[in-house]
Amino acid sequence: MCTPSPPDATQALTQPPVLLVYASHFGQAKQITLAIAEQLRQQGIAAHCMALPSGQAVQAIAGHWRAVLWIASVRYGRFAKSLAPFIHAQQAAAAQTPWGFASVSLTARKPEKRSPEAHRNTQQFLARLQQQGLQPQWAAVFPGALRYPRYGWLDKHMIGLIMRITGGVTDTRLEVEYTDWDAVRAWASQIAATLQAD
Ligand SMILES: Cc1cc2nc3c(=O)[nH]c(=O)nc-3n(C[C@H](O)[C@H](O)[C@H](O)COP(=O)(O)O)c2cc1C
Repeated sequence: MCTPSPPDATQALTQPPVLLVYASHFGQAKQITLAIAEQLRQQGIAAHCMALPSGQAVQAIAGHWRAVLWIASVRYGRFAKSLAPFIHAQQAAAAQTPWGFASVSLTARKPEKRSPEAHRNTQQFLARLQQQGLQPQWAAVFPGALRYPRYGWLDKHMIGLIMRITGGVTDTRLEVEYTDWDAVRAWASQIAATLQAD
């Protein structure tokens, strides 16, 4: 959990914080979340980070938030199962709260996949939400990291196979970070600018 102390005390007193919820297996989506929170803080916006709660603990995200950002990694073509229900629950409780979604994946290591429209998992996830009347104000696709030594046997071999098929790194001794941190900060900066203009 992170609660960076915002430098602009006036803003912090008059505005509720932005909530950032991450769903992360090996820490990359969490690191991206912390970088977004830090950028918001630098622009005078309070931010509160938490891991996606397990089960149906919807009360964990209850509260008055200036905006809610969901940052989730892709695992075998899917985001965390409870992600969509939590987005639904949060919007049902406070429909006026602007929200954003960022996906983290290895597919996005390819520049041509780095938009919500061009990234299949993200596009499908957002299309399903849209069918139910939910549309994010902000959406982004970020490349994650390949960390073979941290994976169990099966995952290591599965990811190795996918990397071979898609022309990626296949040396299972390696860890490779593809995240474009400038793009992460730019997304956060854009969100901060929108919130400040409201
Ligand atoms: C078991 C496993 C399955 C994965 N499946 C996918 C996938 O289907 N598509 C994809 O683009 N990336 C996939 N990835 C890559 C992850 O999305 C990427 O490593 C990301 O940085 C993980 O972020 P996290 O550490 O926050 O979970 C997979 C990684 C692992 C370990």
